[in-house]
Amino acid sequence: MSNSTNSLSSEKANKPIISLKNIYKTYHSSNIEIKALSNISLDIIAGDYLSISGPSGCGKSTLLSLLGLLDSPTSGEYFIENVNTHNLSMDQQAELRNLHIGFVFQSFNLIDELSVFDNVALPLTYREEALSTADIEKRVLQALTQVEMEHRKSNKPSQLSGGQQQRVAIARALAGQPSILLVDEPTGNLDSKNGDAVMDLLNNLNKQGTTICMVTHDVRYAGHASKNIQLLDGQIVDFLQAKSNEPVLDSSTVNQNSSANQSKQVMV
Ligand SMILES: Nc1ncnc2c1ncn2[C@@H]1O[C@H](COP(=O)(O)OP(=O)(O)OP(=O)(O)O)[C@@H](O)[C@H]1O
Ligand SMILES: [Mg+2]
Repeated sequence: MSNSTNSLSSEKANKPIISLKNIYKTYHSSNIEIKALSNISLDIIAGDYLSISGPSGCGKSTLLSLLGLLDSPTSGEYFIENVNTHNLSMDQQAELRNLHIGFVFQSFNLIDELSVFDNVALPLTYREEALSTADIEKRVLQALTQVEMEHRKSNKPSQLSGGQQQRVAIARALAGQPSILLVDEPTGNLDSKNGDAVMDLLNNLNKQGTTICMVTHDVRYAGHASKNIQLLDGQIVDFLQAKSNEPVLDSSTVNQNSSANQSKQVMV
């Protein structure tokens, strides 16, 4: 079940890009044990648009950090493109992250001293496989075109609006041609107009085949995804999946802030 299986080869479709099996994450702080994640099992399929939502402190960012190989689980197994990440060295994890994961953060994380073009190019220069200057330029311009920011490639981030900066940050993630985009509260620093524009962009990217996993506690934006995971106290308490290429929640659901009884949804 995916929004874009038509554009994906049949062997890639339905094969999990990411597979979590019985993941636990426990923090120990001042003699207190905090169970941030408990028994999370999850597959993300090529073409999926998955949103993760839930109240503050329920484990959303922790889950995204594990998915992005920025942190490791206390127990459980995590596979990216069938590679078990458990026994990898830090360098191997960094390489896997660089190849397969594109991050988009709430706070954009662009470097003010660099132009838009150089911000997007920067992660490509860290790759083990050397890319030629021409290849880097091609990828950067392609990614900036996808987010309609190629005409501002020579500007510095400070010369752009918040929404434009977030589009550049999305281009930076796309330029690496990742298997999946991990997106943490992409509209958290934006007004509603810019936030809506960024969400439209993510929708379009997913329709073109980009796999997205997005954390948001905005129920309106969670509704844009075709699958939604609800976390509570580190556990998955609900998993909603749209029946077709439609958002998982419709606007009446969103307005009522109630996701449980919609005819479009099936529990899986
Ligand atoms: N490094 C850490 N050390 C100790 N506890 C932590 C650490 N990181 C997170 N936690 C705890 O783990 C739990 C989950 O935190 P997490 O940041 O994943 O929540 P969240 O769902 O992203 O919340 P928010 O919506 O506020 O961003 C919280 O109780 C938090 O205090
Ligand atoms: Mg968080």
